[in-house]
Amino acid sequence: MEKRNELYRGKAKTVFTTDDPNYLVLEFRDDTSAFDGERIEQLARKGMVNNKFNHFIMEKLAAAGIPTQMEKLISDNACLVKKLDMIPVECVVRNFAAGSLVRRLGVEEGQSLVPPTFELFLKNDALHDPMVNESHAITFGWATAEQLAEMKRLTFAVNDVLKPLFDQAGMLLVDYKLEFGLFQGEIILGDEFSPDGCRLWDKETRTKLDKDRFRQGLGGVVEAYEEVARRLGVPM
Ligand code: C5P
Repeated sequence: MEKRNELYRGKAKTVFTTDDPNYLVLEFRDDTSAFDGERIEQLARKGMVNNKFNHFIMEKLAAAGIPTQMEKLISDNACLVKKLDMIPVECVVRNFAAGSLVRRLGVEEGQSLVPPTFELFLKNDALHDPMVNESHAITFGWATAEQLAEMKRLTFAVNDVLKPLFDQAGMLLVDYKLEFGLFQGEIILGDEFSPDGCRLWDKETRTKLDKDRFRQGLGGVVEAYEEVARRLGVPM
């Protein structure tokens, strides 16, 4: 498959068309953004680490029966994926309280959430990705009730696969964000799963090993992502 034209440039990835209208190339850049793109920095090796990490996780999810857009790794920084019609709503599951949940509800950071919570956010930088509910999504035509139910089912199915995977590697999967799209009428997991879009803490020390290191200016961002990849055995 041949890479053709740039279709869309996001904050950390660029999407290219290919000679097949059903497939796209996702290129992971070193750009790292926070606060809805207000702060952007280049972090050497991050694109490569996230590309390989994302491929590894998507393969694990596919093996567990979760439909993903991943086709194959094509280079250090890029992979080939199915072209989805993306649904503009992000799904977040939380196993421990952190981030916006702590700010919104005033609960204690690190509190275990049983059962885990499920939230929806509208993908809209200008509005700072506001939290929305199913009723909003249905009324404004972002997704149908059936699609939302399937997105929720798959988001929790991902938790069932990844929580034990990270646990066995000495990490807590605190929370994560997923995006879905439609491919031939079916809901498919799209975008990426990487330390840019989830929270991972060391199980013993609760050291942050994810993008909060960048958001909070803690340093050692890519080194932490590489540590996560090393613990999971992601081939680099
Ligand atoms: O900021 P908040 O606590 O709501 O984030 C929950 C999870 O979703 C975190 O793992 C964060 O990295 C991820 N997220 C994301 N992209 C966004 C918003 C949140 O990947 N636009």
